[in-house]
Amino acid sequence: MKINKKLTIFAMIGSALVANAAQIKVETGDVSLIMDGEPGSALNLLYFGEKLANTSEFAYAWHITQPDTQDEYGRELYPAYGGRFFLNPALKLTHADGVMTTQLVYRSHEQKVIDDNLTETVVHLQDKLYDARVDLHFVAYKDEDVITQSVVFSHGEKGDVTVENIASSYITLKAADYYLTHFHGTWAREMQLTEERLTPGVKVVESKKGVRTAQSDNSAFLVSLDGPTREYSGEVYAGALAWTGNYKMQFEVDEAGLLHISGGINPFASAISLAAGEEFVTPEMVLTYSNEGRSEITHNLHDWARRYNLAHGDEVRPVVLNSWEGAYFDFDEKVITDMIDDAAAFGVEMFVLDDGWFGNEFPRNGDNAGLGDWQVNKKKLPHGIGYLADYAVSKGMKFGIWIEPEMVNPDSKLARRHPEWIVQSGKRDLLPMRNQHLLDLSNPEVQDFVFETFDNVLKMSPNISYVKWDANRHADNVGSTYLAADEQSRFWYDYIRGLYSVYERIRAKYPDVLIQLCSSGGGRVDFGALKYHDEFWASDNTNALDRLCIQYSENIFFPAMATAAHVSTSPNHQTGMMLPLKFRFDVAMMGRLGMELQPKQLVGDEREFAFNAVKLYKELRPVIQLGDLYRIDSPYDGDGYCSDVYVSKDRSEAVVFAFSTTYHNRTQSYDIKLHGLDPAKNYLLREVNTTGGSWYPGNGKVYSGEFLMKAGLSLPIGGAFTSMVLHLTEQ
Ligand code: GLA
Repeated sequence: MKINKKLTIFAMIGSALVANAAQIKVETGDVSLIMDGEPGSALNLLYFGEKLANTSEFAYAWHITQPDTQDEYGRELYPAYGGRFFLNPALKLTHADGVMTTQLVYRSHEQKVIDDNLTETVVHLQDKLYDARVDLHFVAYKDEDVITQSVVFSHGEKGDVTVENIASSYITLKAADYYLTHFHGTWAREMQLTEERLTPGVKVVESKKGVRTAQSDNSAFLVSLDGPTREYSGEVYAGALAWTGNYKMQFEVDEAGLLHISGGINPFASAISLAAGEEFVTPEMVLTYSNEGRSEITHNLHDWARRYNLAHGDEVRPVVLNSWEGAYFDFDEKVITDMIDDAAAFGVEMFVLDDGWFGNEFPRNGDNAGLGDWQVNKKKLPHGIGYLADYAVSKGMKFGIWIEPEMVNPDSKLARRHPEWIVQSGKRDLLPMRNQHLLDLSNPEVQDFVFETFDNVLKMSPNISYVKWDANRHADNVGSTYLAADEQSRFWYDYIRGLYSVYERIRAKYPDVLIQLCSSGGGRVDFGALKYHDEFWASDNTNALDRLCIQYSENIFFPAMATAAHVSTSPNHQTGMMLPLKFRFDVAMMGRLGMELQPKQLVGDEREFAFNAVKLYKELRPVIQLGDLYRIDSPYDGDGYCSDVYVSKDRSEAVVFAFSTTYHNRTQSYDIKLHGLDPAKNYLLREVNTTGGSWYPGNGKVYSGEFLMKAGLSLPIGGAFTSMVLHLTEQ
């Protein structure tokens, strides 16, 4: 990290007279988050930014706020509604006696070194008058420069306390300008990057959809200070809420020009009453900071996710062939065993049987029947799943299967047996979405059913080693027959907690199974769910051109190894677009490569190309999946070019991807400067994944890392949908 001369945060606005206060430092290798806690006074955030060697000067810093007024110009780390706090608070309660204000003061804190890399800090706050307690939990990850924050609320009041709003974190920054990057989208167009300058007032990014909450926007964000985000310079803060349900991220620029970033569960229709002694635990906010631009943010989060979040984050992922776009619902045993044969011939390592394999009385021959009845369809697959799994294994592959256990079609035995399990709003009509209803996971019986669904499916064969878990609708007309009338607003929270408890049980019993997180594509891409999964289906849009933008944004936060990217057929089923097979492979190889087509359709040269591409990917994947991603050129900048490079941790190897997405003048070449290499090393450059050899003059030449990063390469691509992959190996 470079030394940044400008002190961004609160040196000028620390807290008043903190001489007796405890200074609490949450620190990673390069980042400091510093608070001061004076017993009986508000807990203030003094600083969040590049690591400070000496923090004693904060004791003399001036504070414009009077203690005890809960002033909006204050610096509270976790402001509650009350006093003169007129901004959107982190916490809003109604106490047992009906009082709506809260004043949190610092009581104590403790710090625990968990291991060489992790330190946990718990700061205890309490209302000045009431026995209402807030514990702030921070975990600092030294090597990854990640700090997570979550909050636990409890009380000892005489009667219930209603929690109306409880953020996971609240960060205040001070700069001349703030630029927010967030990621809006929709089905088949997830994670479209939008950057905007924040103006006075509140910018909200949220979801109230309950399920599939990451499809229309994502809780992950970047805030750049004093100018738009740059890749390799500038101060950038990033956050991502580890929560699969409703969220609300607020970016409030106040009248003094400070930015307050508050994020957590969406308080919309979610008030929760707690009896004395009951605890409410928020999800974690995952935070990181860089003064070397967005690139460092990505490295921090990828390293953190691979080490602490993803299942099996240190193991390379297999190449997959998924049956969906190749067969949809229309298959029998022969179709599947043929696909397995073909997949094996391509060197694919995992065959995944997608939707359509279950339901007898209500066969799943379309999306209008069968969900809920997780028994193999005997007509389509007379020898059962075990036979197919064994067949895949006999061909040297592993076998995976699709489920959507949170859902039920009205046309199913389950819907008849348990209508009360469906999420419903009193007597209102149910609104099917994709012909299906949502099961009420706030109900423990439903949790058991969902767990048993997974368990029973896995019991069909010891050779099932991968599960694709889908969720294809939102929660609308929300309500629960399980929750009491005065507890209905618990639904959103209890649903996700119910889901997590099922995930926990599954992971306890099946630690080795690979699980894909899917929700109509990338509708559930968040660190809360990813914790239990190996990867996510990035989008139902498999069109390589669109995938460039989708994967680019997802990979700012979430690792390439977890980004399922499948080569599909041409014309593309979602967009009708025709793209060369090489272009499609090159894009998919930037993530976890797979194929999603009828492999029989690949014939002649295309068949040979696909075979070679799969083989090549296996050679390159340790760098792509376990290395560092450096972005060279964005697909969003409108110049019709984009490029990324993946570099191995020891800098001995790199893989460059470069794309031309439109027609450029024939005299144009694509000039790129690489990043992340060792300037002192020499690298042999080979163009790979070619259709019949390379005519690039640099092919087979040796370049220094310095040359590649300073002078760069001039690539002969400029035709629409042309691309190059370069493999650099240290000499
Ligand atoms: C969702 C998924 C697809 C596929 C279908 C099956 O749309 O995102 O990949 O599994 O469901 O119905």
